[in-house]
Amino acid sequence: MLEVAHLDVSHGNLQILWDVHLNVTQGDLVTLIGPNGSGKTTLVETIIGLNRSAKGRVTFRGEEILGLPPHVIFRKGLALVPERREIFPKMTVFENLQLGSPNYTAKGAVLDHVYSLFPILKDRESQQAGTMSGGEQQMLAIGRALMSEPGLLILDEPSTGLSPVLVAQVFSTLERLGREGMTILLLEQNVRHALQLCRRGYIIENGRIIQEGSSRDLLHDEHIQRAYLGI
Ligand SMILES: Nc1ncnc2c1ncn2[C@@H]1O[C@H](COP(=O)(O)OP(=O)(O)O)[C@@H](O)[C@H]1O
Ligand SMILES: [Mg+2]
Repeated sequence: MLEVAHLDVSHGNLQILWDVHLNVTQGDLVTLIGPNGSGKTTLVETIIGLNRSAKGRVTFRGEEILGLPPHVIFRKGLALVPERREIFPKMTVFENLQLGSPNYTAKGAVLDHVYSLFPILKDRESQQAGTMSGGEQQMLAIGRALMSEPGLLILDEPSTGLSPVLVAQVFSTLERLGREGMTILLLEQNVRHALQLCRRGYIIENGRIIQEGSSRDLLHDEHIQRAYLGI
């Protein structure tokens, strides 16, 4: 569904990503793991069309998308839950959801689905989004991304800054979405949770993919255990 190959990305004169590759097939749950500053956000921002300096190949459903503007890529079925959530604090929960749907309406089966995943959003429908807790805002950010019924859902560190209870809630929601057939690319620093949820993973360090494999193999890998799992 998503194929990234030989991707080089620079910010100004500074090269950030080096010959990056990554594949996500339909219905797959894939995680991209790496420390702060390793290039995860730069990679997904490039995939959704926010970095014009990129060189290489990014295809979505077999079609080259590198160089297309973000709104065109969004309409092809790629949705990102951004690192900073970027909900609109002065707008209501419902209005934020409307912004996620391609024609700015929020109704029918899609809205019902989002409300069944996150009943709190229905309870808070007319509340200003900025008055909700961090965890509720994360649920809203995920709900908003789902309003476009994306073919691929990308989440940039959704568990960062959340309490353990909320982290567990976010991961169980992703598990349910996976069971329902959603294709997911999850960027995470919560390595244990991410590898338990996803079937495959990539490790990025200093802008390069240094390892990839099944989550099972990665969980038993010596470097990963030492560097990311504290074993
Ligand atoms: N807009 C930017 N301009 C210049 N450098 C940037 C910019 N965004 C990120 N960087 C740098 O790119 C590197 C990768 O950052 P980032 O993609 O945010 O990593 P991660 O998401 O894995 O923490 C870091 O060294 C960061 O300082
Ligand atoms: Mg990041």
